[in-house]
Amino acid sequence: MSQDNNGLRVALTGFMGVGKSSVARHLASLLHTKRLDLDRVIEQSEGKTIAEIIDGVGIDKYRDVETENLRKVIEKDDFQILSLGGGTWTLERNRDILRNNGFTSVWLEATFEHCWLNIAFSRKDRPLARNKEGARKLFDERQKIYCLADWHFIIRSGLNSYDIAKQIREEIFS
Ligand code: S3P
Repeated sequence: MSQDNNGLRVALTGFMGVGKSSVARHLASLLHTKRLDLDRVIEQSEGKTIAEIIDGVGIDKYRDVETENLRKVIEKDDFQILSLGGGTWTLERNRDILRNNGFTSVWLEATFEHCWLNIAFSRKDRPLARNKEGARKLFDERQKIYCLADWHFIIRSGLNSYDIAKQIREEIFS
């Protein structure tokens, strides 16, 4: 890493479509540091897309694969920003792994409609958000778990992922 940035390591959580990966990309670039995207790490290590894994083995086994990859990735010390999958933080064991390894967690919150628009216009196949009502139910259920994160940033209309990354840099890293 080219800069220490107080040695802080940050994990970004939040619902599908909220923009975790793009905020992570901007934040890493603003801080001149490295980031990893857990979904990408899983796809690379498994040689399949997330959708292929979930459709193939089911969601419970997928969660095991996700935790295993989280454990592995956390051992690497050459990155500072980690964007999680939308469900990673909802499991207590994953929250423990992140906390025990010194990660500061950041919840990116937006309205369901904001997330849904991004989901609907994205090319990424998200098995848990193939229909709007199912996705909305999941969104409602997860709010109380996302709010366990250390920090909370709200993506209001008119703010883009670069603006949020700047806010995170100013409030957490300065
Ligand atoms: C999931 C979110 C996805 C991916 C998987 C499960 C979830 O990641 O990890 O499809 O449970 O919310 P994104 O939040 O990056 O879409």
